[in-house]
Amino acid sequence: MFAEKMPEIINASHERLKMELRLADIQTGRVNEAHGLALSGPSGAGKSAAIAHLLKTERARLDEEGYGDATIISLRVPSPATLKFVGQTLLRALGYQISSERQAWYIWDLVRHHLRERRVLFVHLDEAQDLASRGTKHELNSVASMLKTLMTDDGWPVGIILSGTEELEDILNHDPQLARRMKTVHFESLTPAAHANDVLDLLESYCERAELTPAPDLLSLEHGERLIHAAANQFGLVIELILEAIEEAFLQKETALSCRHFGRAYQLRTSCDDEFNPFIIPDFYRIDARQVFTRGGRRS
Ligand SMILES: Nc1ncnc2c1ncn2[C@@H]1O[C@H](COP(=O)(O)OP(=O)(O)OP(=O)(O)O)[C@@H](O)[C@H]1O
Ligand SMILES: [Mg+2]
Repeated sequence: MFAEKMPEIINASHERLKMELRLADIQTGRVNEAHGLALSGPSGAGKSAAIAHLLKTERARLDEEGYGDATIISLRVPSPATLKFVGQTLLRALGYQISSERQAWYIWDLVRHHLRERRVLFVHLDEAQDLASRGTKHELNSVASMLKTLMTDDGWPVGIILSGTEELEDILNHDPQLARRMKTVHFESLTPAAHANDVLDLLESYCERAELTPAPDLLSLEHGERLIHAAANQFGLVIELILEAIEEAFLQKETALSCRHFGRAYQLRTSCDDEFNPFIIPDFYRIDARQVFTRGGRRS
């Protein structure tokens, strides 16, 4: 299921980006407002990975369709997310360095100039929730208003793609004008009851790719539930745990993947004792895996 889920999200996003419409506008010299996309979901859900995949596909499509000179820019929201600093970071992503002495309006004029020169169709801002949490309300308003300005530019409108944790939704709720121009996609958490079988399918295909035999109990429903719970119900974290368990099996030069490798992977990542390891204790629901991961156990 998950192997198919990604393209499904991507196709939906492709529609939402209205890329065809934008390319047709460019070809015919029309100028319409650009559209955007906001992807929210818990940490570890796989948002950055999904957007990276989407952008790669879209860049390849632009090349194929003869728009190789068009660009998509992707950057992480800087801290502090002031109007000036976001502008400077965007300029740098466009390949242009500028002294920080300059005022915000000057920087954004340059940004708009370079977006047009570089034929940038989309700007992706990852960790977009930081636009709200790091800056003041006033700063948030001015950044949101600048994003709207970019999307409605009457010479070269640029689509904005935002990805971030659920606080990103607060930003959009706070600014209906911005929200109106963005399609929203939310990555839900997995639940052991609904997704254990899907996760087992995924695990089985990773085993095949790694040429490891899954131990008999590894493909049991209970192990699927354990894995989801240990990954704090997040799709991306499920994948990371599977990869780390596989790495363990390789390091121990074994040909079968077993629950022991998952236990070791979890232990390495969280430094927990056995009684707090969901791959070791029977009543694994007792453990709050989210706590472990938010304490910074996760690599990103
Ligand atoms: N479809 C996928 N295929 C393979 N690996 C994936 C996929 N989706 C996510 N991952 C992996 O899962 C991990 C977490 O994903 P990602 O960093 O995209 O999460 P996120 O939602 O952006 O989290 P955060 O909010 O903390 O930034 C990464 O190691 C990523 O490589
Ligand atoms: Mg991310």
